[in-house]
Amino acid sequence: MNAASYRAVRIHKQAGQLTIGLEQLPLPSQCAADQVLLRVHYSSINFKDIMSCQGNPAVTRRFPHTPGIDAAGVVVQSSDPRYPVGTEVLVCCRAMGMQHPGGFAEYVQVPSHWLEPKPPGFSLRDCMVLGTAGFTAALAVDAWVQHQQRHAADLAAIDWSRQHVAVTGVTGGVGLLAALMLRQLGVQVTALVGSATLAQLQQPSASSEPASSAQASTAALCTAPAQTTPVQTTQTQTAATYQEPRRTQAPLFPQTATVLHALGVQHWQDRDALCAASLQNLAPSCYDGVIDVAGGPLLAALIKQLQPHGIALATGMVADTALPLNVLPFILRGVTLQGINAESTSEAERAALWQRLRQHYLPADLTPFYQKVTLAQLPALLTDLQQGHPRAAGRVLVDCQSATGASDV
Ligand SMILES: NC(=O)c1ccc[n+]([C@@H]2O[C@H](COP(=O)([O-])OP(=O)(O)OC[C@H]3O[C@@H](n4cnc5c(N)ncnc54)[C@H](OP(=O)(O)O)[C@@H]3O)[C@@H](O)[C@H]2O)c1
Repeated sequence: MNAASYRAVRIHKQAGQLTIGLEQLPLPSQCAADQVLLRVHYSSINFKDIMSCQGNPAVTRRFPHTPGIDAAGVVVQSSDPRYPVGTEVLVCCRAMGMQHPGGFAEYVQVPSHWLEPKPPGFSLRDCMVLGTAGFTAALAVDAWVQHQQRHAADLAAIDWSRQHVAVTGVTGGVGLLAALMLRQLGVQVTALVGSATLAQLQQPSASSEPASSAQASTAALCTAPAQTTPVQTTQTQTAATYQEPRRTQAPLFPQTATVLHALGVQHWQDRDALCAASLQNLAPSCYDGVIDVAGGPLLAALIKQLQPHGIALATGMVADTALPLNVLPFILRGVTLQGINAESTSEAERAALWQRLRQHYLPADLTPFYQKVTLAQLPALLTDLQQGHPRAAGRVLVDCQSATGASDV
């Protein structure tokens, strides 16, 4: 290793103002005994990274700070025999990037017990296209699959195409990847999106075909899911390159519709209309499962629509931590509400889940679902997100070595 310094994205806090820039920092000459130094090839943007950029004290209290809760790269300094120099590793769903410097940098030093080996069958890049959001989505999908198997009289007889799951947050990381994994299994998916997203999906110019079953009325929510042909989309062979966000009144980025159509989701519904509707304690049941990032009235409304013995997986709380609901769905329909916490999974569970992800839950090509940014582009994008500007749907992969061109692993 020859470099004496490295580039890192840094958040500074001065007089209550948070600014984000790219800086040159000195490389540590020697790691502490329990630490390893990684050359970061890729990272990705997650919800907590934006909270960190906004100075949310639940995530980051000390500044200057390097954000980035995900990293995939190669060990360049180590005294841990499990991870010798040259090992390809991940740091994902740990405390990195919060109170500890994160992965939006060319190098990061972390405790070696945060590492996991790069899972077989994945590139470093694909690991970070998934990242914390994808791993969380996989935990939720896996929990739903296991729940279905527990309640099935005959395992082999489960017809996934007759199962129907509602997913929230599909323009973001967890929801998008959960919907993608469910579609890979052949499960029918209803995506709950905001009114602006739904309007864009219904525009004929948004895709070669308008979204099927796009319904803005809650009265139509619980019709039996029709067997519809997945919407055809044009899939590019290379990931989209980052474009500066628009600051006009235009509701969405043009590529949002393309990304969402590529999911092959059959049903689109207006989450705002559902939240505003006064559903009975037990609404007509139509979902075998719910994968939710929102909490609040949206999760409550979806639980009221679960089939008997259905399960809701709560992964996030972007709308609310409260749940305006009574116990009737749990008692009369025997539904389950289960929380997902990606940080609390054991090493063995992680390894097994990555394997199931590769074997069952992922399409071979993830390129329609992410755009790539370089470290140099990252401060401008993070500043936009920090200030609440919208961004295109899909994951954002951060190429941390693009200046040297050595990152395409
Ligand atoms: N449990 C875990 O271990 C774990 C791990 C990772 C993440 N999470 C949590 O999961 C959540 C989502 O993370 P992410 O990485 O997917 O975030 P993200 O990429 O920023 O996506 C957020 C999604 O939430 C949607 N949304 C925003 N406001 C909403 C509202 N009021 N009601 C319903 N949906 C709303 C957004 O839709 P629009 O495009 O319409 O705004 C977007 O689709 C966060 O709460 C995060 O902390 C939990």
